[in-house]
Amino acid sequence: NRLSPIPQPPTKPVVGNMLSLDSTAPVQHLVKLAKELGPIFWLDMMGAPLVIVSGHDLVDELSDEKRFDKAVRGSLRRVRAVGGDGLFTADTKEPNWSKAHNILMQPFGNRAMQSYHPSMVDIAEQLVKKWERLNADEEIDVVHDMTALTLDTIGLCGFDYRFNSFYRRDYHPFVESLVRSLETIMMTRGLPLEGLWMQKRRKTLTEDVAFMNKMVDEIIAERRGNTDATSDKKDMLAAMMTGVDRATGEQLDDVNIRYQINTFLIAGHETTSGLLSCTIYALLKNPEILKKCYEEVDRVLGPDVNARPTYQQVTQLTYITQCLKEALRLWPPAPAYGIAPLADETIGGKYKLKKNTFVTILVMALHRDPSVWGPNPDVFDPENFSREAEAKRPINAWKPFGNGQRACIGRGFAMHEAALAIGMILQRFKLIDIHRYQMHLKETLTVKPDGFKIKVRPRDDRD
Ligand code: HEM
Repeated sequence: NRLSPIPQPPTKPVVGNMLSLDSTAPVQHLVKLAKELGPIFWLDMMGAPLVIVSGHDLVDELSDEKRFDKAVRGSLRRVRAVGGDGLFTADTKEPNWSKAHNILMQPFGNRAMQSYHPSMVDIAEQLVKKWERLNADEEIDVVHDMTALTLDTIGLCGFDYRFNSFYRRDYHPFVESLVRSLETIMMTRGLPLEGLWMQKRRKTLTEDVAFMNKMVDEIIAERRGNTDATSDKKDMLAAMMTGVDRATGEQLDDVNIRYQINTFLIAGHETTSGLLSCTIYALLKNPEILKKCYEEVDRVLGPDVNARPTYQQVTQLTYITQCLKEALRLWPPAPAYGIAPLADETIGGKYKLKKNTFVTILVMALHRDPSVWGPNPDVFDPENFSREAEAKRPINAWKPFGNGQRACIGRGFAMHEAALAIGMILQRFKLIDIHRYQMHLKETLTVKPDGFKIKVRPRDDRD
C-alpha cells in the first residue's frame, strides 16, 4: 500500500520544530503553515509528533467518535491545575466526566436558559448604563467591557455571585488570579531548565490556585449550610448540588463541583467576550450588515429602552445570530482543539496515525477552507448562516464549539447571552470606529482583538 508521508516544515537538531513556532501567536503561525503545507502537516515537538489538520474532508473523518476521542494534552493538561477533573479538562474515560456530563445537561438545557434570562438582562443593563453615562471624550475598551459582561453573567447564573465588574476599575481578584494562572500555564512548554526561570511564576501559580479554590469552596460550603437557599435558587450550583447521575445513581462531590465552577469561569468568560468583541468589530467594518442588524433590533425589541427584552424576543434576533455565527467562523475564540486516535489509523486513505498520536484540529484554518466556504473565505458574510446555506453545507465544516459528546456544553448559554447583549447595545447606541481599528488577534488560551477601542453615541436616527 502506498501511504504518502505527512508534510513537515524544516527542523533543527534536538528541538525539532519546537522553537520555530511563534510563541506569542502560535495559532496564527500554524494557520500560516497550513496555507503553505496544506490540509495536514506535522511538527516534531522535541521527539513528540504533533499533527495539525485543517482540511474539511480530513476533519470530517476525524469527527468520528468511534475512532477518535478528545485528547487532554499539552497546555490543556496543565489547565487541570485550575480545572481539575471538571468537564473541560477531564479525560472522557474518567468517571467524573460522564457523571458531570449527565448531571449538567439539565442546567445547560433550553428550559434552564429561560430561568437565567433575567440575570443576563440584569448584567447587560449594567453594561449599557455604563456606556450611557460616558462623557463624549471617553473611549470604550471593548474587550474589557465584554469580559466584565460575560464574567458577571456566568457568576450570577452559575452560582449567584456578583463579581460587580462594572463597579471596579480592575477585575475582581479571582479573575486576576485566574488570568495570571492561565498565563503561566500557556508560557510553560516543558523545555529543559524551564523550572529554574519560572520558579517565581510557579510559586505564584500555587498561591493563585489556593486562593481561587478557597473562594469557590466557601461559596459551596455556605450554600450547603443554608438549606433554604438551595431549595429555591435556580442557578447551576443548585443543579450540581442536587442532581443525580441516572447511570450511576451518584451525585457530584464538593471538590468536583468546585472544579466545575472554576471551569465555567475559564471556559465561559473569555470565549464569549471574544465572540462579542469580534462581532462588534465586524459590524463596524460592514455598514450594510450593521444596518440590517439595526432594522432587526427595531422590529423585534422596538425603541422602548425601558422595556426589558424577553427570552422569546432574543430568540427572534435571527439575523444577529447569523452575524454571531459568522464571527465564530472567522475568529473562533477557541481556535483549535485536540484529539487522538483510539487505535492505529489511516486517514484520507493514505495518512497513517499511530494510536494516541496528538492531533490538533485547527478550527481557525478549517473555517476558511475554500472547498467549503468558496473562493473568498476571509469575507465576513452572515449569509453563510442563512437557513438555506446551513442546510446545504456539509457537516463538520463549522466547529467553533468542538466535536460530539465533548463539544461545548455552554454553547446555548453563550449564544443567548451574546444575542441579548448585541441587541441591547444596538437598541441604544451608534458605534464609532474612532481609531479605524484593524483586527489584531491576541492569543492567550483563546483569541480576541488586542487594543480594540470604540466610542458610542446615543442613537438619533429614530427621532
Ligand atoms: C468545551 C468553545 C462558551 C463551558 C468547549 C470546546 C470548545 C468550546 C471549542 C471543546 C474543547 C475541546 O474539545 O477541547 C466555546 C466558545 C464559547 C464557549 C467558542 C463562546 C462563544 C462556554 C460557556 C461555558 C462553556 C459560556 C459555560 C458556562 C464549556 C465546558 C466544556 C466546553 C464545560 C467542556 C465540555 C465537555 O468536554 O464535556 N467550549 N465555549 N463554554 N465549554 Fe465552551
